[in-house]
Amino acid sequence: MTSSSLPGLHPAPTRHARLVAWVEQIAALTKPARVHWCDGSAEEKETLIADLVARGTLTQLDPVKRPGSYHAASDPKDVARVESRTFICSDDAADAGPTNNWADPIEMRDRLDGLFDGCMAGRTMYVVPFSMGPLGSELSALGVEITDSGYVAVSMGIMTRMGAGALEALGEDGTFVPAVHTLGAPLAEGQADVPWPCNEQKWIVHFPETREIWSYGSGYGGNALLGKKCYALRIASVMARDEGWLAEHMLILKLTDPKGRAKYIAAAFPSACGKTNLAMLQPTLPGWKAETVGDDIAWMRFGEDGRLYAVNPEAGFFGVAPGTSRNTNQNAISTLARDTVFTNTALTADGDVWWEGLSKPVPEGLTNWKGQPHDPTSGEPAAHPNARFAAPAHQCPTIAPEWEDPRGVPIDAILFGGRRASAVPLVTEAFDWEHGVFMGSTVASEGTAAAENAVGEIRRDPFAMLPFCGYNMGDYFAHWLTLGAKADAAKLPRIFFVNWFRKDQDGSFVWPGFGENVRVLKWISERLEGEAEAVDTPVGRVPTRQSLDLDGLGLSETALATLLDVDAEVWTEEAGMIPAFYETFGDRLPKALWSQHVALTHRLDAV
Ligand code: PEP
Ligand code: NA
Ligand code: MN
Repeated sequence: MTSSSLPGLHPAPTRHARLVAWVEQIAALTKPARVHWCDGSAEEKETLIADLVARGTLTQLDPVKRPGSYHAASDPKDVARVESRTFICSDDAADAGPTNNWADPIEMRDRLDGLFDGCMAGRTMYVVPFSMGPLGSELSALGVEITDSGYVAVSMGIMTRMGAGALEALGEDGTFVPAVHTLGAPLAEGQADVPWPCNEQKWIVHFPETREIWSYGSGYGGNALLGKKCYALRIASVMARDEGWLAEHMLILKLTDPKGRAKYIAAAFPSACGKTNLAMLQPTLPGWKAETVGDDIAWMRFGEDGRLYAVNPEAGFFGVAPGTSRNTNQNAISTLARDTVFTNTALTADGDVWWEGLSKPVPEGLTNWKGQPHDPTSGEPAAHPNARFAAPAHQCPTIAPEWEDPRGVPIDAILFGGRRASAVPLVTEAFDWEHGVFMGSTVASEGTAAAENAVGEIRRDPFAMLPFCGYNMGDYFAHWLTLGAKADAAKLPRIFFVNWFRKDQDGSFVWPGFGENVRVLKWISERLEGEAEAVDTPVGRVPTRQSLDLDGLGLSETALATLLDVDAEVWTEEAGMIPAFYETFGDRLPKALWSQHVALTHRLDAV
């Protein structure tokens, strides 16, 4: 069959000649059975879902308990992002930097040509136009994902502004990031499908110079929903470098004090440090209100007034289910009440989902994520530890009214953080922007039981962007410094470092966390208003005992000392670990950051 006679390819619902030519070209390469241009309508979603249910990919949940919601069980070998199979194919290896896997772009194109040849045989090729960010916003950008997965098309409908609106925004000549995704599981004539097709081989490939994404072999979230990590972070970080803005792995939160004064806070934490929980925080202090703008990604640009404005480029939350409960995140639980796709959770006997941490005791009669009866004595969890939900952001009870404002929200404070049992205080304010960039560049997080690095061992995750920066992170630090130097210092967001995870001698958490984190946000908000005191320490500005609202917490003086005191000896050791990390960037590491390190050492010596 020639591609011009391929069912569904023509007539294309657009006059964008370059887009149509690209779709024809990918169809000729991948050889699908038919093409479907997604319009994002409710009827289309129904049709896609009916097909996925028929194939066994999706199971409908009880429509009374969980209306419009579905469960998918992945192939057990396709459950998470594959960082080792993720490549940045810049022309020059040095431009990918020491934190990325680089591959030669010419060789990679050759390889992809082979892999993608006929890869969609027997399947429908979906053309999925999408906008990252509110439609029509100057802070938004467009993309088109071609995929042979209906699950991906449905998920993109939740996670992005997908369909006719995005296609219309593209007009006849608009710029878009082309993203090609295949499960890598062609079907021969008459071959039966499996519920979760994928390939043993996985390739998640980015060409930063030509702004292209190619993804092979996985149906899982971050590998397959190409608007998210691949576009909105890896490719967008390169666009942002070239165009003078920021694409960051940050939640966005609106905090309003009892006097009605609102602050917008962006925060970057590595995985498993509670970004979604902070984005949906329920303050324990009376009169304080927290609202959600985004939970994972922030795109930020300076406005004409000199302030930094952020949009959440996504339209949904793709969160980790295990550990999410009424106690840890009631707002997430409410968000998931309907129209949600769950992947690799357990199923209850009465047609609902369950995961570790959701409720006690463990319900009887669970089916585990592998589709087998759950055996509570096996020591195996019923839900995969990386089980996920994909839910529309507008369903979040605390979604901020301005979350889709095309102008974005003006950021007052930027938070960095990690999981650190020792050394790092509850909250530290940077002396200035450059010091804040130094703090961001040294973010580290401890291994948890689930992570590869040993408990107590720290992994550097600068700006929480380690797996997501599409270029040399030395250049990325320089970009942050340049933007700050060009801006009006008085209008820059102030930078803070937070750590909810300090432990005492017995290994117990000292800080209660969750809703009580509002006490730290209160201090930050009052710092911004010029109302809260701080003491200068060698590592930055830390709250005085009186300036932090600790009423009713019953923290001992020892606990307070653990949370707020800076131990020069411990910090000298901390500072001593930075050079080995910085040296990996060679001369791409900005001199100003080396100077920050020297200055920290001098301040510590002076104690
Ligand atoms: C993902 O794995 O697809 C993802 C969104 O990752 P993370 O939770 O690390 O942001
Ligand atoms: Na992941
Ligand atoms: Mn993330």
